[in-house]
Order: sequence, then C-alpha cells, then structure tokens
Amino acid sequence: MPEPKNVYIKCDVLEDLPKLNRDNWLFEIKLLSKELSQNASILQVGSMDGTRIIKLLEARPDLKLTGIEIEAPLVELAKKKVTKAGLKASFVHGDITNPPNLPKFDYVICLNNTLGYIPEQKKAINKMKSLGKNTIISVYGEKFNDELAQSYFKSINLEIDHIDQNAIIMNGFTKVKRFTKEEVDSWNCKITETPIGYFCILNTSKN
Ligand SMILES: C[S@@+](CC[C@H](N)C(=O)[O-])C[C@H]1O[C@@H](n2cnc3c(N)ncnc32)[C@H](O)[C@@H]1O
Repeated sequence: MPEPKNVYIKCDVLEDLPKLNRDNWLFEIKLLSKELSQNASILQVGSMDGTRIIKLLEARPDLKLTGIEIEAPLVELAKKKVTKAGLKASFVHGDITNPPNLPKFDYVICLNNTLGYIPEQKKAINKMKSLGKNTIISVYGEKFNDELAQSYFKSINLEIDHIDQNAIIMNGFTKVKRFTKEEVDSWNCKITETPIGYFCILNTSKN
C-alpha cells in the first residue's frame, strides 16, 4: 500500500505529470495571482510540502500564507523548504474537517482537486467557509476523463482499481472524486473553467 506522503509529494512535481495536469496547476497559480487582493492572509488546505506556497510567494510576495496539512511529515518538510527558499509562511498540522484553533483569513484556498481526496466534503467546504471571508476551491471535472485519470494517477504512484462514475477507486489508497459542473454549480460560486476542471470562488464574506 503506498504511503500517503509518497503519493502526495508527487502531486506538485510538474515535470512528471501529464501535460493537462501540469497546465491546470499553472493555470490555477495565474488565476490566484490575479484574484487575491494585496497583502491578503490566506489559508491553503492540503499544503503538502510547501511547493504551491513557494510558487505563490514568488509570484505574490505580499501574501501572508498559512498551510494546513493532515500528513505530519509533509508539514515538517514544508517548513524546511520554505526556509531554504528564503521565504516566510506558517504551517499547521491538522484536518480541515476538524481543524485546530485558527484565526479568520481573507481567503481559504483548496487547489488541484484536493477536495476530491477528502471523504467528508460537505464538512470540509463548511469549515473553509467559516475560516475565510472568501473560499476558492479548484477541482477536476469532466475533462479529467478516465484515460487522463489513468495516466495522472500512475504519475503520482497510484494504481486505479476501478472507476465508479465520478469516484476513482485506488488499489490500497483512499478513493478520489472528480466533480460535475452540476455539483460545482450547487456551491453557488463564480466559476472559471480550467484546462481540466473548475476554479470556484465562493463568497463567504457574510459569515
Ligand atoms: C492533491 S494534494 C495537494 C496538491 C498541492 N498542494 C497543490 O496545491 O496543488 C492533497 C493534499 O491534501 C492533504 N490532505 C488530504 N486530506 C486533508 C484534510 N482533511 N485536511 C488537510 N489536508 C488534507 C494531503 O495530505 C495532500 O498533501
């Protein structure tokens, strides 16, 4: 059974991913750089080894970034990588569905279909909305078809057992979900189509 940290660590190794996944990752960074307001405080859900936070800080050094990550070894790795890059960000070990005490952020961001790895998705979305004035969730959609899923999961050390509609069931690992346009529409958000999915801005400023 693959160890979670050995799988997740591959998600941001762009040169090993299929072109569409790589394009999608970079497209998310471009959209974020344009969308996030100056000096905003941001919580990234599933901050992995800090790669995304480093890329964001390179594009937008004004941002105040915090990552929350469920895998403790990845939290430690992220701290080291950010320091080595000469940048500043905070990282907390925790589960977004049951997070530790955190302040309110200008934005909570959850990218690269991270929501699809979280079994309690409704709970995760509600937590994100309660922690951020704005919540941005980017997920894979219909364009992440079965063929692309096969090559993507192979590139991150996972083997698909079978696909049941939008649930992709792995051998010895959590199942991963892709999302339909109908589902993301139900989040009542502003949607931008990405190379393989949907970049959704949920306005939660009334919270
Ligand atoms: C697809 S990878 C993240 C990709 C990458 N950080 C990015 O921005 O493109 C998903 C990450 O979310 C983390 N994760 C999964 N469930 C989580 C949860 N409930 N709370 C916090 N992090 C979680 C995983 O450990 C993993 O590092």
